[in-house]
Amino acid sequence: MVLAPHSNPEAPVLAHFSLAGKTAIVTGGCRGIGLEVARGLCEAGAKVAITYSSTSPSEADDIAAQISSANDGRQVKAYKCNVRSIADVDAVVEKVVQELGDGRLDIMVANAGVSKHTPAIDYPEDQFREMFDINVNGAFWAAKAAARVFERQAKADGAPFRGSIIFTASVSATLVNIPQKQAAYNSSKAALVHLSKSLAVEWVDFARVNSISPGFIETEMLDIHPQEWRKVWNEMIPGHRFCKPAELKGIYVFLASDASSYMTGADLIIDGGYTLP
Ligand SMILES: NC(=O)c1ccc[n+]([C@@H]2O[C@H](COP(=O)([O-])OP(=O)(O)OC[C@H]3O[C@@H](n4cnc5c(N)ncnc54)[C@H](OP(=O)(O)O)[C@@H]3O)[C@@H](O)[C@H]2O)c1
Repeated sequence: MVLAPHSNPEAPVLAHFSLAGKTAIVTGGCRGIGLEVARGLCEAGAKVAITYSSTSPSEADDIAAQISSANDGRQVKAYKCNVRSIADVDAVVEKVVQELGDGRLDIMVANAGVSKHTPAIDYPEDQFREMFDINVNGAFWAAKAAARVFERQAKADGAPFRGSIIFTASVSATLVNIPQKQAAYNSSKAALVHLSKSLAVEWVDFARVNSISPGFIETEMLDIHPQEWRKVWNEMIPGHRFCKPAELKGIYVFLASDASSYMTGADLIIDGGYTLP
């Protein structure tokens, strides 16, 4: 098979971004970047499943209801899922396929992740393993569960099917942040970018696989760092400001949609120029 072609490349360009009729899953979709990505996908027309881990079930349901009511009641549903558990991930993906997708799935955003700054020389074994278990393994379990559905659909349709898998990586895959010491985080994100490229080649018959590498985004993940570090980073970013999470939703819709139909294996850096100097 070939990378599935765009069904109508000559259509006016905004139609290329439409996700009408598609079903998407966003892991870690109840706060931060994932929440805004979920909003963006829904605004573009997709039914969206958002997964959560430590968020309370009632809060997650409220968030899903808010996104739905802001988008003509389009289906948005929250599912509890610890991405470290293969059983959890597989069960949630199959549930979403049945409950939201009428047997189908189109988009998987493997976004859930954690960060921590700990000097490498002191890194406790369990914490180093946990970082990779969430940021790399968990992202892979999510991608793999989606890929199985995509492959199944391609076989059933007897035609090329192009699902979209999007990993939230980081500029930390490309550079080493200072002054924070975060070798585990940086290397987990570098692994994720190369995992994405590898899967893009291996799964070309039924999926496009890309990653997005954000710079400094104003979420709880950034809040854990001391204020003086934020001043240092602000000086280092040519754009001299941090990014609001909602400023990322367009790039996720781009990768999820036919607007990027020939793009696979790419890592899109969105960082106000931070990686340039
Ligand atoms: N903020 C930045 O500057 C920045 C920059 C580059 C890349 N990123 C990446 O962007 C992604 C989202 O981060 P964020 O900034 O939005 O941070 P955040 O607000 O801390 O959100 C982290 C998300 O990951 C979920 N999560 C954590 N552990 C999980 C687990 N074991 N199973 C399932 N879900 C889990 C959380 O769900 P619950 O809240 O329900 O626990 C939450 O939705 C991460 O992969 C991060 O590395 C962030």
